[in-house]
Order: sequence, then structure tokens, then C-alpha cells
Amino acid sequence: MTTSNLYPSTYAHSLTDPSGFWLQAARLLDWTKPPQTAFARQANGMADWFPDGELNVCDNAVDRHVRAGHGARPALIHDSAMTGTVRTITYAEMQDQVARTAGMLADLGVTKGDRVLIYMPMVPEAVFAMLACARLGAIHSVVFGGFASAELAKRVDDATPKVIMSASCGLEPNRVLAYKPLLDEALRLSSHQVPHCLILQRPQLAAELLPGRDLDWHNAFAQAAPAPCVPLAATDPLYILYTSGTTGIPKGVVHDSGGYAVALAWSLPNIYGVQPGETFWAASDIGWAVGHSYITYGPLLLGCTSVMYEGKPVGTPDPGAFWRVIRQHRVSVFFTAPTAIRAIKREDPEGKFIAESGIGGLRALFLAGERADPDTVQWAQTRLGVPVVDHWWQTELGWPALAVCLGLGARETRLGSAGMPIPGYRFVVLDSAGQKLPPGETGAIVIELPLAPGALTTLWQRPEHFVSAYLTTNPGYYTTGDAGFTDDDGFLHIMSRMDDIINVAGHRLSTGGIEQIIAAHPDVAECAVVGAADALKGMIPVGLIVLKANVTRPPQDVCREVVERVRNELGPVAAFKYVAVTSQLPKTRSGKILRATIRAIADGQTPTIPATIEEPRALDAVRAALATLAGREG
Ligand code: COA
Ligand code: AMP
Repeated sequence: MTTSNLYPSTYAHSLTDPSGFWLQAARLLDWTKPPQTAFARQANGMADWFPDGELNVCDNAVDRHVRAGHGARPALIHDSAMTGTVRTITYAEMQDQVARTAGMLADLGVTKGDRVLIYMPMVPEAVFAMLACARLGAIHSVVFGGFASAELAKRVDDATPKVIMSASCGLEPNRVLAYKPLLDEALRLSSHQVPHCLILQRPQLAAELLPGRDLDWHNAFAQAAPAPCVPLAATDPLYILYTSGTTGIPKGVVHDSGGYAVALAWSLPNIYGVQPGETFWAASDIGWAVGHSYITYGPLLLGCTSVMYEGKPVGTPDPGAFWRVIRQHRVSVFFTAPTAIRAIKREDPEGKFIAESGIGGLRALFLAGERADPDTVQWAQTRLGVPVVDHWWQTELGWPALAVCLGLGARETRLGSAGMPIPGYRFVVLDSAGQKLPPGETGAIVIELPLAPGALTTLWQRPEHFVSAYLTTNPGYYTTGDAGFTDDDGFLHIMSRMDDIINVAGHRLSTGGIEQIIAAHPDVAECAVVGAADALKGMIPVGLIVLKANVTRPPQDVCREVVERVRNELGPVAAFKYVAVTSQLPKTRSGKILRATIRAIADGQTPTIPATIEEPRALDAVRAALATLAGREG
């Protein structure tokens, strides 16, 4: 890491000469046709990055390092706390595995532009699958394993994949999760007929295969010949990743090939301060944006060793699990969500597991996914004795947009702030009339167009929705959906979301989507779901329902069914456990449910009562209902 602070000059360079800056960064990669143009503006203000460049992202993440003589370097270390096993895959082995996985897909007719859906647990084959798609120019869409069949079906219908790659099971503490029945149910629910599913049989549980449609992964792999890398336009899509929107319909965020690969290769040394050959660990899941960018693509594009961890921060077997992985695999820089540190802190408040065995050569901890509360940051900083950096990003952006760039020599962190803009990003805070706000005043956080390379290019199948959701509210800017302020020294403070998105244990969920599932229950007249503060998960969804007048069944039966519905339709990841019956919901005179008021009551605050409230007594009903939710800790 550099000792002088190059952040201010690097940031200024990225804004005054974006073309020169990003063409220089593009040299980090091998191109079949090197770009001469950094970006071309689109009519909507966005940019096509490296429009005349041609490359293959898999070639850059795998083959390039073998060509350079680093075939024996570990590319991926799979550490499963669930099975007690460690598997190290070198770059040469990775090349063979990925080329043959691509061959297996090619045998099923997958070619450039086809979609492949990946619904897999945290096993190396999931990374091979992603890279195999990139090798062929097929567009992958990874779906997080904690989503239920109905959510998976929505993604199948939107992405219309030619092949689904899945596994027989996932491993959660104390249970083996059968994936295949969830997949079968999703394919029963979806309208799109998927010709083939490749199923990885794990030793913990065998899945039944449907003759004709399902193929055994190992058998197909054994017969496959290695497939070469297909050169792609930099602007060709690399993947679609679905994320929660403000409705129950997930948004298919599309990332391109060239811009994304350049941004990620640049980010590792300059933001995280990691060099080729070092080990980087993102304790996330490949189903999330962090997993895409910092388990699979980022570390491999730079030639680092990436750790893939199947386990939890606590309970697998103890709150020392993360520190054991860091020591054992010589992790230099570590990335996780604040909720994971809170879970460790709760079980090991004194940090005994850290003090007893140490953290090896760890240089820094980066946190993202939700607001990092100062208590958690301070606890980690004191116990670990390394910089703890809160940084901010979104599935849409694909890599951080705010951070303290340790790799550029920036050192000053500020509690409560997610840092300063990453080179390429210009942040502005706007009031409700779209006027710029001065430091210290809270408003909508927006980013000036065009966005830096690596950010989304559109929403799959819905380009108009992309424009209306992100580019229309504040012309000339990308609307992040977050609210916050800049302080006098230029640090940004992200305070909350401005829509119905909530963050549960670092997982992004839409309360509107949960409400849609609850409202479909035959006994529910109306409902509201809010994100209430939770000491471990940051936020937790809490539901209030009003029963139809003719319902005579015990209210707790309806509550139980509503919880089951959300678990079965959205998935266990929603952690939806708290729902209470109320006689009425607080509303404005125009009939809008006062969710912010309900949230304040759920958090034990005294809400400001809006002048427009229709029936103030509804607040007493809500208080009484929420008081019945015993066991909820705020
Ligand atoms: N497949 C299937 N089910 C899954 C799953 C997966 N990949 N991941 C989680 N689930 C299930 C869990 O088994 C759990 O089910 P349960 O209600 O039957 O217990 C539910 O989804 C919620 O899981 P989780 O969010 O992991 O909560 P937890 O209470 O088991 O653990 C933490 C709490 C804080 C330890 C955990 O949430 C955590 O490690 N979070 C970090 C999140 C993260 O890294 N996010 C990435 C963003 S950067
Ligand atoms: P996701 O798309 O799942 O990565 O979620 C993105 C959202 O998570 C952002 O819009 C923020 O609301 C929130 N988020 C992510 N990182 C941070 C952070 N460091 N501080 C505050 N909020 C964050």
C-alpha cells in the first residue's frame, strides 16, 4: 500500500479526464481488441463503456493468469465449515474445470446471449458455472438459495434460461436443505419451459432426476470437451442479477462485460489495497452482488486468491470461525456485512477468540450491505487492531461507489460515514424540489450521469422501467433511493432508504413484496409491513394485519398462516416471524397507510403524528397490536 494519500489527485483525475483515466485502467486486462474509446454517451445520459473494445471476462479471470505462468497459484479456496473440508483450486485447475463446464453447457446448445440460471449453494462448481457462462458469452443469472420456489419461478419467467444449473442440496446449520424439490416446484409454477437442468449431486443428499430434462452434472462434465473463450463486445451483457424493487416483481439488473471487468480489476488494488497473489475474502454468498463481484470476478480478474466460505459467522462451530478462516488461508483483506460482526460480538463480546489466536496478517476489514453502526465499527476496530472501513454500494452499481480508498493511501475513516466518492462517481444531495443541498442537510442521494464503468446498463426486458426507476425523478442524475448528507469534510453519511426497501441481515427486501403475499390471504382485509430496528439483523420485517369482518377463526391461526406463506413464497431469507392483528391501520385522509408512523411505534419511539391522519385512535390499536409481539428485541 502507498504511504502518501493519492486519493484526492486520483479522484480529481477521474473527473477531469475520465477517458484517459479509464483507458489507462483498461490496460489492467487483456483485450482481443483493445478499446480506443472509453465511453459513448447515450441519449438517456448513461454511457456505453469501451464501445469499440472486445474481450472475454473469463479469459481475463482465469486463462490470462495461466498464460502468465501463475497456473500453480491458488485461485479459489473453498472452506466449508459445514462439512469441515477445504478444497484449493489452482488457476490451472480452474481453467480446466471452467473450460469443461463451458463444454458441458455448449453440448446443451448454450451459445452467446443465451441465459443460464444458477441456483446453487456455496460450492466451487457455482463459481465454475458463472465463469463457464462468461467463457461462452452466455448471460448468467444467479439466484440466492434462500429464495423460495415462487421467487425462483419469477426469475425463470423473466430470464427465460436455456439451462438451469443447480445442486441436490444446500447445508444450513442443523439441516440439509433439499434444493431440487424447490427447483421442481419453481418449474411447475413458471410459464417458461426450461429444456435442461444440470444437477450437482452432493454426497449429503441425492436428488431424483427427471428423465429427459435433468442431467447429472458429474456425468455430463465427464463427457464434455473443454470449450474456448468467445470474444465479446465490451458492451455485451455478462450477467443479470435480480434485486428487490418497490413491488413484488424483482428487477433484473444487467451488467456489461468490459466496463464491469475494468472497474473490478481497478477496485482491488486501489480501494482494498490488495495485490495479485494475495488472498481476499468476501464472506458473502454468490447469490448477492458482493458474491458476484468479490468472491468470483474481482479477486480472479486481478490474479488474487479468493476464499469461498460455506458457513456462518457464529455456530459453525463458534464465533471464532471467521478468524480461523482468516488465519488458515492467510487472508490479507476481509469483507463482510455489519450484521455478521454483530452476531460475533453478541456471542464473544470480549473478543476472546480474536485475542487467543489472532488474525494472522489481516490488514483491513471492509463492511457493506447496510449502515455500519458506530458501536460495531468501534468494537471491530478495537478487537482487530486494523482499519475498519464502512463502504457503500448497491446491486445496481456492482462495486463500491463510496469508501475510504486504503489502496490509494487514504486513511481517515469517520464513524457513521460510508466514506468519500470512488473515482468516477460524483455525488449530490438534493431536496424534494431537486435543488442541491449544502453540507449537513439531509436529502436524496443521487449520482451525476454518466455512471462510472461497472454500473448497471439496463433492467432485463424492461428498459423503460430502468429509465423511470432510476433516471426520471432527478433528470441528469441516477437516483440511488437512499437518503443522507455530506459533512463539511466531504464524507457521505447514508442514513436510510427513501422507498419500501429494507435491509435484513444485509439482505435487501421489499416490504411491498411481503405485503402482496400477505394481502392474498383470504382472511386478510388489509396489511402493512415495516422494517423495525433489530439488534442483530439491523432490521426485521414486522407485519400488521386487519382481518375481514366475517373472520371467526382465532387471529393467531391467521398470523401463523401468514408467516408460513411468506416463508413459502418469498423464502426463509425474509426472516418474517412477527405479525400481529390490529383493528385498524393509521392512514391519511386520502387513505395512504402511515408506515413511517407504524415503524416509529415498532421502534419504541414517540411518533410525530401527521396532521393529515384520518383517525388518531388507530395509533392506539397499533401500539396494542405490536405489544403482543413478545420476544422481539429492538
Ligand atoms: N439457502 C437456503 N436457506 C438459507 C440460505 C441459503 N443460501 N441462507 C440463509 N438461509 C435461511 C437460513 O437457514 C434461515 O432460515 P431459518 O429461518 O429456518 O433459520 C433464514 O434463511 C435466515 O438466514 P440468515 O439471514 O442467515 O439468518 P440467521 O439467523 O441464520 O443468521 C446471521 C444471522 C447474522 C449470522 C446471518 O444473517 C449472516 O451471516 N448474515 C451475513 C449476511 C451477508 O453476508 N450478506 C451479504 C451482503 S454483503
Ligand atoms: P444491495 O443492492 O443489496 O447491495 O443493497 C443496497 C442498499 O443497501 C443501498 O441502497 C443501501 O440502502 C444499503 N447499503 C449498502 N451498503 C451500505 C452502507 N455501507 N451504509 C448504509 N447503507 C448501505
